[in-house]
Amino acid sequence: MNYAEFEKRIAGAATKDELDAIDHELFGRKAGLMTAALKGLGSLDGDARKEKAKELNVQKKSLAEAIATKQSDLLSSSDGAFDSTMSLPETERGHLHLIPEFIREVEEVFGRMGFDVFRSAEIEDEAYNFDLLNFPKDHAARDAQDVFFIKSDAPADNKLLLRAHTSPGQIRYMQTHKPPFRAIFPGKVYRKDADATHSPMFHQFEGLMIGKNISFANMKGVMITAIKELISQDAEFRCRTGYFPFTEPSMEMDMRWQGDDDSSREGKWMEVVGCGMTHPNVLRNCDIDPDEWQGFAFGFGVERMIMIKHQIPDLRSLFQGDRRFLKQF
Ligand code: PHE
Repeated sequence: MNYAEFEKRIAGAATKDELDAIDHELFGRKAGLMTAALKGLGSLDGDARKEKAKELNVQKKSLAEAIATKQSDLLSSSDGAFDSTMSLPETERGHLHLIPEFIREVEEVFGRMGFDVFRSAEIEDEAYNFDLLNFPKDHAARDAQDVFFIKSDAPADNKLLLRAHTSPGQIRYMQTHKPPFRAIFPGKVYRKDADATHSPMFHQFEGLMIGKNISFANMKGVMITAIKELISQDAEFRCRTGYFPFTEPSMEMDMRWQGDDDSSREGKWMEVVGCGMTHPNVLRNCDIDPDEWQGFAFGFGVERMIMIKHQIPDLRSLFQGDRRFLKQF
């Protein structure tokens, strides 16, 4: 057995198969050269046998080590042998951000109830954001403290602004569609607010249903069905009277959530939706005869519903882009 030559061949092996063959040639139980040499020791005697055994053991150890080293080199190098027992690195699968995910569910739930989906622009003017919705000229919601006005050449009494609610979508829809109809208007809205339950940009989805005999009870039925489907069958809510210039009578609905700290296990109530029967003036502004048609409108806060659904204490986490936060869902 030529020890030096085997050392060279081991070092030069290019594949795991080639290395396995050398291993077999040396250490195979029946015909391995090293195996045979060790067996041959029996025919020597005395000191010669001791000498030879020492030499062979050193060689055997060094060749076995060379094979093991080469084997791990081949496995770790990219052109090494294919090892079918190696486990694959774990891959992460992404998903939609909670906001578009929720809006898709909203469109699905209302789609099943026969509602159309309609989107309109985020830049509006005062006529669509306020006047056509029956806001008086001196209404507090028009204050520059609350609304983002846009510098432009628009007339001073009809300035451009970032819409403060999705309600202008109602007007856009009613001006282009003939009743009866039912539609939702999802999208971004802008207000000068920022704390745990407010963000200067947030999402709403508005709903509108106009027909011959649409009642307040129909409105509650649609809204409660949607809340149960979107959040949970045992979602807790309460209704309060409310005021909006474009609905009469109006109502606000709160939902139970765990609060922004854990101090009270009872949880708190958070307002999630404003709604009511469409004001006759709004119908008139869209050339719809209020003696013939009536209906309801509602406007849900998307982020707040997501906070309740997923037990999120601070609405701003939805906008901070921290992937550790999104991984939880
Ligand atoms: N636009 C109202 C808001 O943003 C919500 C609302 C929509 C109320 C439709 C009544 C009817 O607060």
